[in-house]
Formats: sequence, structure tokens, C-alpha cells
Amino acid sequence: MTFSSASIAGTVGDTATGPTEEGPTAVAYPNIALVKYWGKRDEELFLPVTGSLSMTLDIFPTTTSVRVIDGRRDVVEFNGVAATGAALARIETFLDLVRAKAGRSDRARVVTSNAGPTGAGLASSASGFAALATAAAAAYELDLDPRALSRLARRGSGSASRSIFGGFVVWHAGEGEGVAGDESSYAEPIGGDELDPALVVAVVNQGAKAVSSRVAMRETTATSPFYRPWAESSVLDLAEMRKAVARRDLPAIGEIAERNALGMHATMLTARPGIRYLSPHSIAILDAVLALRADGIMAYATIDAGPNVKVLCTRGDAPRVNATLVGLGDFVTTRTAHIGPGASLTTSGATPTTLGAQLAAGGDR
Ligand code: DP6
Repeated sequence: MTFSSASIAGTVGDTATGPTEEGPTAVAYPNIALVKYWGKRDEELFLPVTGSLSMTLDIFPTTTSVRVIDGRRDVVEFNGVAATGAALARIETFLDLVRAKAGRSDRARVVTSNAGPTGAGLASSASGFAALATAAAAAYELDLDPRALSRLARRGSGSASRSIFGGFVVWHAGEGEGVAGDESSYAEPIGGDELDPALVVAVVNQGAKAVSSRVAMRETTATSPFYRPWAESSVLDLAEMRKAVARRDLPAIGEIAERNALGMHATMLTARPGIRYLSPHSIAILDAVLALRADGIMAYATIDAGPNVKVLCTRGDAPRVNATLVGLGDFVTTRTAHIGPGASLTTSGATPTTLGAQLAAGGDR
């Protein structure tokens, strides 16, 4: 998927100005965790209970511009509509953090658009806050290295810390609490991109979920008797997964990813009251994945906080996996993703001349 600055200007829904007048513009892609982040040890600092590992995708990007304005409130436009209520408050809270770091108080206008479904367990908050952190840091002239940017994105949504980077990425749980925890909990790429797997995303429901992942993970950690055992096993899964990525072992990666995800869902199902994102359609896809494996196809499922299922396989097997899932019926639509890039600024909000030079140097994607 490619973007030009012109298409970005077209998709943000602002007819009056081009991207340079919108301020710095960033693009970030969703990531899908192969070892899940599920539970915080510090809700305010977004410190996770366990480390996690993901693959950044090349589909469903978020494009976000941030421009500092002369006003009393932040103004946020989301997919062409003015944001209000909780959605606006979440972005304002994040911008307050950026402003505090920058020692500034001026408000911002944020224009953001998602190419994929929002709030449906397809990692829209990961791409969303990775793009917002990248554009806002530039707009408020914070000079952050990628690790610091990852820590900043984490404060918007934990999984966003991983979308700062492309390919396979580990997010360290970090050590300790407070400042020590904050400084040691960041994401970084771990290589292995040449594995070049495919992830066939089977969308069975594009609607926003009834319970947000934030609330579900809070309830689960607080009430499920299965939570601690899962968290302990997830630490081991992460260690094994890192080794599997290092030796480029796709079947091992798939096996660990599938058991880790099913374990996470077991913790939710056993929360009190239980939280269930899996639908009969999700189960039908899990059955199809088992059947594919019985046929010798390396296909492994992972599921986030929603009913949609993502199936990991080789690039070569993706058409077969896709055909099998589409063949299940009208309830499923698919998109095949591959390894995608980290978050990047596509325009710096500079003058058109500087912008042209930046694009010529490969700054756009
Ligand atoms: C199931 O990152 O959306 O996708 O930090 O509260 O914003 P907050 O949660 P979020 O949770 C993602 C949960 C998950 C697993 C994962 O991506 O690791």
C-alpha cells in the first residue's frame, strides 16, 4: 500500500489546506501481537504485567496530522467527523502529556483517519497512537529518539509502543515502578523480517466491540483465577518466541502465538463476569485453521479483543489459506497482510520546498 502526500491531504477530509498547513503528518500501521499484552501493572504509566511480541502489518494504516493552534481547546477530526466525549478526552489527555514534556500549553488541531475498521480488535489504537505520538512530537518540537517515541506512544495505548517499529517487535515489560518502570518499558525491533510471513486477517465483524480491550484487561487481571497462570506462562512464551524468531522457525512461531492467544481468551472467559469476544464465526475459522494444518499447511490463528481471527502462514500458502477462509461463507471477508514498516513522518509541516526535498529523499511511503 502506498501513500503520496496528495492522497493524505485528500483522505484527511480537509478541503481548505494542504498537508504542509496541517502541520506534521505521520503514518503508522497496526501490529498484531504473537505474544499478547494483556494486563497492566500501572494503569497511569501503561506498564504491562508481561512483555509482548508483535508483527507490524502493511495494511490498515492511520494517518494523523497535528498542528499547534491558537485556541482554548484541542480540536480533533476523526475520519472526517469532529471527535467529542471520551474519544476527544483520550486524545486531549495524550496531548497534555506531550505538552508537559515540551513545556508548552498551546492547543492543537488533530486530523486523523483510519484506513481500517476502528475498535474492532484490529489494532486501530496501536496505529492511532503511534501516528499521533509521531506527529505530535514533531508539532511540539520534541526531539525524541525511537525508543523515547515508543515510550510516549505507550502512554496513549500500550500496543502503540510496538507500532513505532516495523517487522517483528518486542515490547519489554520493563523493571520496577514509577520512573524506573517508565524508562525501561519500551519496544524495539528484533529482526527476522526475511521470514516474510503472511497474516490473513479474517474479518467477521467490523463493528466496534461492546467492551474495550482496556476495560476487559482490567476486569480480567482483577477477577480471573486464570490470569496469573497465563501471565506466568506468557513470560515463558515470550522467551521461546524470541528464540523461534531468531532461528526463523515459522511453525514454532505459529504454535506459540496460537496457544498464547487462546490462553489470553481463557483468562477473559474466566473473568467474573466472563468476557467473550469469540463468536461462532471465530470458532468456525479456528476449525478451518485446524483442518488446514491437518492438510499439511502451516497455518496458525491468533485473536485479539474481538471476534476477528488472524491466520499466520507463509507468503506462498496465503492464497490457499485465504480461499479456505472465504469459502466458509458470506460472514467472512479477508485481507492479507505482510510485514509492514514503522511509524514515519510523511510531512514535517515544513515549507513546500523543504517538503519536496524530503519526498525526493524518500521520506514519503
Ligand atoms: C488484545 O493496547 O488496546 O490487542 O493499553 O489499554 O490501550 P490499552 O490496550 P491495547 O490492548 C491490546 C490488547 C491486545 C493484545 C496486544 O496487542 O498485545
